[in-house]
Amino acid sequence: MTAGEQARATTQQPLAASGADDAFAAGAAWIEGEIVPVAQARIPILDTGFVRSDLTYDVVSVWQGAFFRLDDHLARFERNWRRLRLVPPLAREQMRTILIELARRSSLRDAYVAMIATRGVPPAGERDPRRFPNRFYAYAVPFVWIQRPEQQAGGVHLVVARDTHRIPPTSIDPTVKNFHWGDLVRGLYEAYDRGGALGALSDGAGNVTEGAGFNVFAVVDGVVRTPAAGVFDGMTRRTLLELLEREPLAPLRVAALPLADLARASEVFLTSTAGGVMPVTTLDGAAVGDGRPGALTRALRERYWAAHAEPRWATPVSS
Ligand SMILES: Cc1ncc(COP(=O)(O)O)c(C=O)c1O
Repeated sequence: MTAGEQARATTQQPLAASGADDAFAAGAAWIEGEIVPVAQARIPILDTGFVRSDLTYDVVSVWQGAFFRLDDHLARFERNWRRLRLVPPLAREQMRTILIELARRSSLRDAYVAMIATRGVPPAGERDPRRFPNRFYAYAVPFVWIQRPEQQAGGVHLVVARDTHRIPPTSIDPTVKNFHWGDLVRGLYEAYDRGGALGALSDGAGNVTEGAGFNVFAVVDGVVRTPAAGVFDGMTRRTLLELLEREPLAPLRVAALPLADLARASEVFLTSTAGGVMPVTTLDGAAVGDGRPGALTRALRERYWAAHAEPRWATPVSS
C-alpha cells in the first residue's frame, strides 16, 4: 500500500468520537493519517515542502464556532495544488472532514486552520519531482491576529519598503499561496527599522503589491482601490469586493495602485483572514487622512465581521 492509499484508507474510517480534550487545547494537527496535539506534530525533515518550499497551502478561519467560507478555501486550495501539479493523497471531501474534525477536537471557538500540500519526501536517490509521493498536512490553532482588535482600534503604521520588491509573478506566482516569504519578511524588518509595525512591498515599477499575510486597499478620491495583479487573491479581499458589489458604499477600482496614489489616499486598510480589515492610520511616518480609521474602513470592517453569520458562508464546527 502506498502512503497515499494508507492515508485514504485511514480517513475513510469514521474519525474517533471525542469531546473537549485538554491535550488538544493548544491545537490539533493531522500528520500522516493521525490527529495529534499540535505540539507533538512532526514533519519528515526530507519533505521537499520544508527543504525546497515546494508546496502550496491555505488558511481558513473558524469564528464563533463556524468556519468562514470553508468550501471557497478548499476550492482555492485545489486550484493551487493543481497549478503546481501536486496530487495530494486525499480527496477534497476527505480534507474537509479532517479540517472540521481538527477544529472540533481542539474545541477552539475561534481558530486558524491551515492545510498544506507538499511535493513530499523523495524516494531514495530520486531527483525527479514527478516521482515524489505528495503529502497533505493540516492543523488548527487558536485564531491568529496580524493586528489585535485593540491595535486595530487606533490603526497601524504601515511602511512601504524601499530596498525590497515583491518577487516577480513570473518567478513565483503570488496567486498560488506559498511559503516563499523571504521578500515579505525582509520588508517587515525594513518596516521595523523605520518605525513601522507592518511592511508592504512594491512591484519595483512604482505600484504597491501586498505584505506579509495581507492585501492592501486604499480610498483615493472617494474610490476604493486595490491592486488587480501581482498579489494573492485573498479571501478577505474577495469578500470585501463581493460585499461592495452587493452594497456599493463607494465606487471600486481593481487595477494597479501606484505608490503616488497610495501616498495621497484618504484611507488605507489591509485585509487578511488573520485579522480581517485592519485600518492603516500612518503611512511611511505621515498621517493617513485625519490619522484615525476612516469611515469606509470602519463600515467595511463591520460588514466583514457581520458576514461571518451569513448561512451561505458559515459551516458550523458541530452541527
Ligand atoms: C501574501 C499574502 N497576501 C494576502 C493574504 C491575505 O489572504 P486571505 O485574505 O485569504 O487571508 C495572505 C494570507 O496569508 C498572504 O500570505
